[in-house]
Amino acid sequence: MERTFIICKPDSVERGLVGQILSRFETKGFVIVAAELRTLDADTLGQHYEEHVGKGFYDDLVAFMSRGPALVAVLEGPEGTWATVREMMGATNPMLAAPGTIRGDLGTIFTENLIHGSDSAESAAREISIFFPDL
Ligand code: RTP
Ligand code: MG
Repeated sequence: MERTFIICKPDSVERGLVGQILSRFETKGFVIVAAELRTLDADTLGQHYEEHVGKGFYDDLVAFMSRGPALVAVLEGPEGTWATVREMMGATNPMLAAPGTIRGDLGTIFTENLIHGSDSAESAAREISIFFPDL
């Protein structure tokens, strides 16, 4: 089995879409092994988004991701779960994300794209250790 990490970003909590988003993953067959509603701070986001620290959009990204509670969670499934979760999320820009994907069906705003998912098995392990160190 393999685990990956997701965040239902503050916009999905504000819009009442968390249940629908988690339902897609549960219906697919992935198992939620950890989940918590948590307001993320700048230090934690700096660890999580370390590859983006210093970029032009970074401060706006932190402001958005910390503006209210997010739902952080770990999903479990067969090998390749992280990649399938990314497929189910759709492209980063919701306007370009395919219909049938979470971003494609539920959003229009590039900076408020509803969900994060780990982009490799290594990222998943790293991110799970940041958000759920006891897992
Ligand atoms: P995420 O990490 O949040 O799951 O999204 P992603 O892999 O699809 O996209 P990534 O390249 O990692 O970017 C992280 C988030 O930063 C915002 N972003 N803004 N203004 C910009 O040029 C810009 N570029 C990226 C996006 O909201 C993206 O989700
Ligand atoms: Mg990313």
